[in-house]
Amino acid sequence: MSSTLITNIGELVTNDPEADDLLGTRPDAALVVDGTQVGWVGPAADAPAADERVDVGGRAVLPGFVDSHSHLVFGGDRAQEFAARMAGTPYAAGGIRTTVAATRAATDEQLTSHVARLVAEMRRQGTTTVEIKSGYGLSVHDEARSLAVARQFTEETTFLGAHVVPEGDPQEYVELVTGPMLDAAKDHARWIDVFCERGAFDADQARAILRAGAAAGLRGRLHANQLTYGEGVRLAAELGLVAVDHCTYLSDADVAALRDSGTIATLLPGVEFSTRQPYPDARRLLDAGVDVALASDCNPGSCFTSSVPFCIALAVREMGMTPAEAVHAATYVGARALDRDDVGALVPGRRADLVVLDAPSHVHLAYRPGVPLVTATWVGGRPT
Ligand code: NIG
Ligand code: FE
Repeated sequence: MSSTLITNIGELVTNDPEADDLLGTRPDAALVVDGTQVGWVGPAADAPAADERVDVGGRAVLPGFVDSHSHLVFGGDRAQEFAARMAGTPYAAGGIRTTVAATRAATDEQLTSHVARLVAEMRRQGTTTVEIKSGYGLSVHDEARSLAVARQFTEETTFLGAHVVPEGDPQEYVELVTGPMLDAAKDHARWIDVFCERGAFDADQARAILRAGAAAGLRGRLHANQLTYGEGVRLAAELGLVAVDHCTYLSDADVAALRDSGTIATLLPGVEFSTRQPYPDARRLLDAGVDVALASDCNPGSCFTSSVPFCIALAVREMGMTPAEAVHAATYVGARALDRDDVGALVPGRRADLVVLDAPSHVHLAYRPGVPLVTATWVGGRPT
């Protein structure tokens, strides 16, 4: 097993939960990669010998970003819908059906090469773990093949047959999702998700779908309270889900339920940027003791960015997070939102997934928005 010593690190963000500061930041640190994992972290002066040595020239080194929410399997795009929105048309979930038609019309090869392009785009921007949902097939065949495509790129695949009702009777569609569609999807997915929102699925339907998913061995997650107040966030807390995503419209009872259940609120500020809706209030959640993750939600409708650095900058500027909180949310908490303890931190034993920034500290991710600061992304101990 070969080892690599990374030296001359300007600032090392470890996310070590034992550290005094949130990011476990170490000045004058070095890191040794042993094979695919972090082998050693400590003061540069004490660094052990290694087979190779990489001098990062005073740049910051951070854990790779864990993007716990994306919808990368789709055909076509909705640039015209975005342009209309910027001219005043409000965002509506119904636009999903436009992408469903384009996805059904795409070949497996087209879907696969499109996902490959987006995953490469994410890599260049520092994402080392990505969750990918289905949800634009919405037939037994098209959901199964969407997940089979996603599975080629990540272990974190999510069955989102309950995105919207594509056509026909809603109750019959729920029966399809919980029956034949789940059967066809379950071997390709780790998670099951429901868009619980007015115009999509209500809380009773979401409960039934998540229960059926659990019986088939899939873990639950939920899109909730994105466009309106509603019962979704409380349902996620009641079911003890690991994460509930969007959380834009929250009552005090919703915030209390999240705090009491320990369910992570995953905020997706690229959506509010791209829909001109109000941003979720991260500060309120953090001050109440709720854990907050950040993710891209990369999708063709509500938010077509693949950039976690952009989401970090938005979270700091628009949602009241400090740069340290936002970076932690996009790395350590993102990993927890996928129930992963092998990524999200640079401590011995975790996977050596890391980002080298062309900047001296993590603060620059928000301080220099829109600037491509990621100069290298390492996955499993190797630059990619
Ligand atoms: O997470 N909220 C539901 N699904 C996506 C948007 C889907 C679309 O508009 O195509 C989201 O925002
Ligand atoms: Fe989403």
